[in-house]
Amino acid sequence: VTVYVPADTTARALGADRVADALRQAADERGLDLKLVRNGSRGLFWLEPLVEVATANGRVAYGPVTPEAVPDLVAAGLFDGARNHELALGATEEIPYLKNQQRLTFSRIGITDPLSIEDYTDLRGFEGLKKALTLDGQGIIDEVKASGLRGRGGAAFPTAIKWQTVHDEPQGQKYIVCNADEGDSGTFADRLVMECDPYMLIEGMTIAGLAVGATQGYIYLRSEYPLAQKIFNQALERAYTAGYLGDDILGSGKHFDLEVRLGAGAYICGEETSLLDSLEGKRGMVRAKPPLPAIQGLFGKPTVVNNVLSLAAVPFILDQGGQAYADYGMGRSRGTLAIQLAGNVKRGGLVELAFGTTLRALMEDFGGGTLSGRPLKAVQVGGPLGAYLPESQWDSPMDYEAFAAFGGVVGHGGVVMFDDTVDMGEQARFAMEFCTVESCGKCTPCRIGSVRGVEVIDRIRAGENRDANLELLSELCETMVDGSLCAMGGMTPFPVQSVLKHFPDDLTRSRGGAP
Ligand code: NAI
Ligand code: SF4
Repeated sequence: VTVYVPADTTARALGADRVADALRQAADERGLDLKLVRNGSRGLFWLEPLVEVATANGRVAYGPVTPEAVPDLVAAGLFDGARNHELALGATEEIPYLKNQQRLTFSRIGITDPLSIEDYTDLRGFEGLKKALTLDGQGIIDEVKASGLRGRGGAAFPTAIKWQTVHDEPQGQKYIVCNADEGDSGTFADRLVMECDPYMLIEGMTIAGLAVGATQGYIYLRSEYPLAQKIFNQALERAYTAGYLGDDILGSGKHFDLEVRLGAGAYICGEETSLLDSLEGKRGMVRAKPPLPAIQGLFGKPTVVNNVLSLAAVPFILDQGGQAYADYGMGRSRGTLAIQLAGNVKRGGLVELAFGTTLRALMEDFGGGTLSGRPLKAVQVGGPLGAYLPESQWDSPMDYEAFAAFGGVVGHGGVVMFDDTVDMGEQARFAMEFCTVESCGKCTPCRIGSVRGVEVIDRIRAGENRDANLELLSELCETMVDGSLCAMGGMTPFPVQSVLKHFPDDLTRSRGGAP
């Protein structure tokens, strides 16, 4: 009997290893020949550890399984795929949360053993690379252009234009750098790619290398992801051994090398130029642009810097054709978005859908509302620098332009939910405080503005000269937006301004002073 127990960080944090041990023990006691596969997570975190059993009619799921529940589950017939237990969920693919998604990038996660190249190729893995090897660089870029893919790190810059810029630079050393410094609150999609389908990222980066003429790639991985590092490095070794990387990729004579570099734990190192400084061994400080990294990036050479999700979308695009990807989405936001439901949510996890779905559908139909059961009050989309959105904005479609129209940010797709017990004044203060801690210090509006911002918010909350200080806060926000060198200082005001606009009572509600 074949049983699947995920081995990614989330499932393991929730006890998956002990569940696996309990299942082994139960099988031993019954003299069963158990094949235990440590797959990746399906991204349905509220059901983790999600145990699956292979049956003649496909996989059936149980979850969330605790080690203590295993004897009972086994007695109820888990090894036979029985469905008469309260933790039995029926056919995995029929779970509405999964069934109602459009998984293009995440089509394999949770299905495969992340380190098995055979599992990967069985599900069309490396087909995109094979296609790319039949094209020249321009041909690859044209396919990406047809897909309409835009940078999934948050800035939504067209990926093909970035690649074109690097491609058009004179021949010589060029680099592909993958930004895996996933620092946004509530996000985990990059980690899922690296832990649950690592060959997809290897394939995407290799295709990018072939497209622009780069022979070296680096993955800048945040130090908080030690398991991703371990799994990914094992995948790299196997990909080299199997000929998918190195100086003769699949016998083509083409060359691409890849290695992982660990960050040192600074939010700002997710900003691309700061990341490049850090990769070069320096302290991560933001560089002025221009020059763009595409012209003068790592070690001064033309460099593609792309987020994990942008690169991970590329194998599908090359395999199925750019148009197949562009068929999903709305307006100028083509393809799918990996939405990460987090915060005060009943059913947290990964939801991959075409652009155009609404926040309300995500939070209610998928998320099931708040975990606390209390009414939802606000939602922060796009990380700690994203605006807090009130209910009046939950029906607008998730699309880069539609969100930008009301000051929202889609960002990296993180959706953090808050119930009605949240103090939005405290959240506004946190945005400024976060910036004081994470600012690289290079420019004044951010370095000093954020410190003054915390002070002004404290004064407003203490009831001191409230009107004058509210005006001062608004002006400070404008100065930071207009005068900061990078998105850190430039976007920190977004959550603050959204609180000023939509939740002013929370900000002015006194913490003991005059109302
Ligand atoms: P940006 O708009 O300055 O640049 C976007 C990208 O396009 C950059 O890679 C830039 O080098 C490139 N680019 C621009 N013009 C180009 C050209 N003509 N040729 C080639 N490349 C070109 O935005 P930035 O500062 O890189 O990113 C800001 C975004 O980062 C924010 O919108 C925010 O949502 C996101 N963010 C994401 C986080 C995460 O954890 N994923 C954390 C914090 C912010
Ligand atoms: Fe550094 Fe902040 Fe200026 Fe960005 S805005 S360069 S993080 S000081």
